[in-house]
Amino acid sequence: MAIEVREQDFVFHLYTKNTSYILSAAEGEHLAHVYWGKRIRIPSMDNALLFRWSCFDVMEDAEPPFSLDYIGREYPSVAGDYRIPAIEVEYADGSRECSLTFQGYRILEGKPERQGMPSLYTEPGDACETLEIILQDRIKGIWVFVYYTVYEDYDVMTRSVTVKNRGTEEVHLTRVASASVDFESSGFELLTLPGAWGRERHIERYPVRRGRQMAGSSRGASSHQMNPFVALLEPETTEEKGNVYSMNLVYSGNFTMGAEVDQIGKTRLFMGLGNEDFSWLLGTGESFDAPECVMVFSADGLGGMSGIYHNIYRERLVRGTFRGGKRPILVNNWEATYFDFNEDKIVALAGAAAELGLELLVLDDGWFGKRNNDTCSLGDWYANLEKLPNGIAGLAEKVREQGIRFGLWVEPEMVSPDSDLYRKHPDWCIHVEGRPRSECRNQLTLDLSRGDVCCYLVQTLKELLSSAPISYIKWDMNRHMSNVGSAKLPAERQRELPHRYILGLYKVIQEVTESFPDVLFESCSGGGGRFDPGMLYYTPQIWTSDDTDPVERIYIQYGTSLVYPISAMGAHVSAVPNHQTGRVTPMKMRGDVAMSGNLGYELDLTKFTEEEKETVKKQIADYKELRNLILQGDFYRLKSPFEGTDAAWMVISKEREEFFAAYFQIQAKVNQGITRIKFRGLKPNVFYEDRTTGEIYGGDELMQIGLVVDLFGDYQSRTWHFCEK
Ligand code: DGJ
Repeated sequence: MAIEVREQDFVFHLYTKNTSYILSAAEGEHLAHVYWGKRIRIPSMDNALLFRWSCFDVMEDAEPPFSLDYIGREYPSVAGDYRIPAIEVEYADGSRECSLTFQGYRILEGKPERQGMPSLYTEPGDACETLEIILQDRIKGIWVFVYYTVYEDYDVMTRSVTVKNRGTEEVHLTRVASASVDFESSGFELLTLPGAWGRERHIERYPVRRGRQMAGSSRGASSHQMNPFVALLEPETTEEKGNVYSMNLVYSGNFTMGAEVDQIGKTRLFMGLGNEDFSWLLGTGESFDAPECVMVFSADGLGGMSGIYHNIYRERLVRGTFRGGKRPILVNNWEATYFDFNEDKIVALAGAAAELGLELLVLDDGWFGKRNNDTCSLGDWYANLEKLPNGIAGLAEKVREQGIRFGLWVEPEMVSPDSDLYRKHPDWCIHVEGRPRSECRNQLTLDLSRGDVCCYLVQTLKELLSSAPISYIKWDMNRHMSNVGSAKLPAERQRELPHRYILGLYKVIQEVTESFPDVLFESCSGGGGRFDPGMLYYTPQIWTSDDTDPVERIYIQYGTSLVYPISAMGAHVSAVPNHQTGRVTPMKMRGDVAMSGNLGYELDLTKFTEEEKETVKKQIADYKELRNLILQGDFYRLKSPFEGTDAAWMVISKEREEFFAAYFQIQAKVNQGITRIKFRGLKPNVFYEDRTTGEIYGGDELMQIGLVVDLFGDYQSRTWHFCEK
């Protein structure tokens, strides 16, 4: 059993294969954090749990006295603790005190289901248990249930929180963290994945200073600008060594995360809801569920941490038919045609794609309403018959006649002011009455906090998907929230809109994906603006970035791989000069980067030269051979582009019998010495054969000595495919 309890003083030991997490109800009252790190067999727990010395701070009425500001805490509230709280409330009388004390606990088999919210799931046979800790503010009757689920074999713990108002008056929740952990020391570094449109999830690592270091999103989406992931590292941590403590929120909207170093050098790490756009009015008898936070500790550096996330996300977050490696290689017409297409062009593209060995054609933006540019028609999800005289069903049939499947782009959460939908329901968008509606890409956001809007979307999407043989949907979302207001919510609930929107989105996407289990859904948000575990729960793959330049993609895919498996990443070969950067790179490098994920093409295949056709045919054939390995194997980062101008990574099968590796020389240097690639995770005592050259090497040799990489020029790449001999 992964949870042990010492009853006499309420010490809880939660453990996985390699990790221990210990908390205790100190003095029978205060939920204290004791330890998170490498597995401990049987903690004696006679270590002092409370640091009793305090000078000026509020003291508890205990003998000897102590201060809540000095102890490690698990779910801190404001009373007597000056560090960032996990929960903040405001009562009708304006008071904000919430003094949570321990009331009891339960151990639950498996994991309680979280209704309406994405979360990791369990399967029969999983070694999985949940600790429920019950806290209460006795004066106001606010109850907080903190859930810790331990996935013993995966080395993962999740935390989530439910707040219940059992008092006699309403209360506003203004912060509800999903996890908060106190460390006894400081001197850590913080690692986050910030970015921008076209430059998502770059790695940023910096020392945690005294005071608060906060990051997050208030854009209504998890965002390009900051991923809901944070890690605390020992400064010497590398890919292979060092202690890493990390949190990833299973959520697609606004969030706040960060760290705080206090007056005596302790560090608090936190993650959850609670920025300036969050507030939730909790009536008497009501409850509020915060999103789940996935927590991973690794003593084996960043590589160890990533491996743990990749495994559990592939096996206990992604669901359905496409959970494994069965993803089609696709061609998307966006960068090939933009809005300028008709049925003949798309059918020709499908024909060229089939000839090259591709498996699916995706018709992107511009197929509906009157849409020939981005100024109109979002919301009018019926075919533009001028472009597509046989409608979507007719086109899908013609594409299938070419020998490949058909997929379609939609942006269901949006509406164009110039659309039939907007003319009929101008109050269905997010807006503040009496103020101009600020448009971004000429569009407005539908108010998914409204039940009527959600019902309409479910029905519209179901009709669309039933109307034609559609095998794939790209679910896009291309703007952030502004004028955050809803025509339906009362004044005191307006700040609930961003969270209610995400709950509405989850409801819609759950119903639609459940109704079409054999359709592959890929989510997208102006590229990778909602690349988070919340979306991954519904859509097994996500468009990683609108930036398809392979050089830029190396940074983006490398950063993304810190948390998310490469099977989650959509990666396409596009034309040169690249549409985002103007860079000209060889087809080989474009292919090598894109095949390190879900391979696709996004350029006009009908214009290929014979030589390009041959290169791409080979890329596709190679990928088909490697696809299961790439999508299901263990991923290792070998060389970071953030530390030089080269990058390398590899994927090895679980049985360590086969691996694929890629090396990228972004910028050539003269007289720079010998460059080697040293592989990882191999069996040292067996021989591996290079599938291209037939050369044979020992696993130990490939890991210790490695191979010389001899590349000449900028934007060069090399790949290897080895099998055990
Ligand atoms: C943004 C997406 O990221 C692109 O791939 C493309 O689908 C456009 N939207 C279409 O408007």
